[in-house]
Amino acid sequence: MTAVAIDANRLWERIEALSRITDPDRPWTRRSFSPLFLKGREWLANEFRTGGLATSIDAAGNLVGRLAGSDPNLKPIVIGSHSDTVPSGGRYDGILGVLAGLEVAQSLVERGDRLRHPLEIYDFLAEEPSEFGLSCIGSRALAGMFSASMRDLRRPDGMTLREGLAYVGGDPERLASVRRSPDGTAAYVEVHIEQGRVLEQEGTAIGIVTDIVGIHRERITVKGRADHAGATPMLLRADALVGAAHIVGTVYARALALADSDKPLVATVGKLDVLPNAANAVPGEVEMVLEVRCGDEAATRTFGKTLIEEVRPALEALRLEVQAETVSHASPTPCAPVVRDAIRAAASSLGLSSRDLPSGAGHDGVFVALTGPIGMIFVPCLDGRSHAPEESIEPHQAADGARVLFETVRRLDAILG
Ligand code: GLV
Ligand code: MN
Ligand code: MN
Repeated sequence: MTAVAIDANRLWERIEALSRITDPDRPWTRRSFSPLFLKGREWLANEFRTGGLATSIDAAGNLVGRLAGSDPNLKPIVIGSHSDTVPSGGRYDGILGVLAGLEVAQSLVERGDRLRHPLEIYDFLAEEPSEFGLSCIGSRALAGMFSASMRDLRRPDGMTLREGLAYVGGDPERLASVRRSPDGTAAYVEVHIEQGRVLEQEGTAIGIVTDIVGIHRERITVKGRADHAGATPMLLRADALVGAAHIVGTVYARALALADSDKPLVATVGKLDVLPNAANAVPGEVEMVLEVRCGDEAATRTFGKTLIEEVRPALEALRLEVQAETVSHASPTPCAPVVRDAIRAAASSLGLSSRDLPSGAGHDGVFVALTGPIGMIFVPCLDGRSHAPEESIEPHQAADGARVLFETVRRLDAILG
């Protein structure tokens, strides 16, 4: 295997250090817009500077590290991922891609290698669904897909997203300044754990992502009537949680029926808020988020709407009202042949096995793709576990991802105009 001059020990030590910035009661948790997130960001910005990157936070709250290129006319090559986590998530989802990017940039600086293109390393703000209900906030803004009204979204404690952006060092009144033109990025590359079992089961070192699944989220509200749980006879109740349970069961059954189609669809209700959420009260209202993922755009969009109309009569029979509104939609996104080919050639030059595979997880690349060609490098993770504390990778797998990234960037720098 040809060794590439990245420092695998430094990469692993940084992964360990950043992952340890976690809520001690709920490892591994570093939620966007939290004090811990800011602590992680402060650590990361310092590492960016140590690595020789010109470092700043843009108006959308992205942490950006830059290296100048030798040709001022060229657009940047961008490497990125995210440092926020889901609640009780894993140690590697997100930070691997940011720290592999930093490792590539710092190695270039240390070798005295200057790319023709500017190189930008992004820690995108809030890739995971935030407490405001929105995900991919920073990359959405880069693509001009963060609408002005999204600033008014509120999280449960009342903070608006406008205030949240300012809290992380962004400027909600200057979001247009981060927007890129549709050809504003020379290429985008992200290293990520696979979050599935394909690479591990085959013993393949590197996954080359072919396309990223579409994700549609609907907020569904079921309204009934809160009542005393002892004094209200069964025949007089309007129990919102009974209606919500019917919806959850129907979502599962409908998605299961589509599991064998050529574009399998997955659907999840992973978040429910029950009011008043008391043992001795009939639930009066339930708010939940239905998330649908599929490689087929139309199926992703229509699943929730069709399902609500289907369950409405059953809920009305329970004296319940049901409403649904779209929270977010990200279309299925192909990765660009030019980036995929560069990743394949990079892995082969390093003697690493590789294969094509789709991503069932969402990524910031979906939005960055609206500004230029994208590609993703996957490395295996233990048992395919992710979005769970058991998420695990080995140091050599992180290093393989960073080495392939280094070679991919060098190749793209040579061939892209
Ligand atoms: C991102 O982690 C996703 O929800 O797939
Ligand atoms: Mn994730
Ligand atoms: Mn991720």
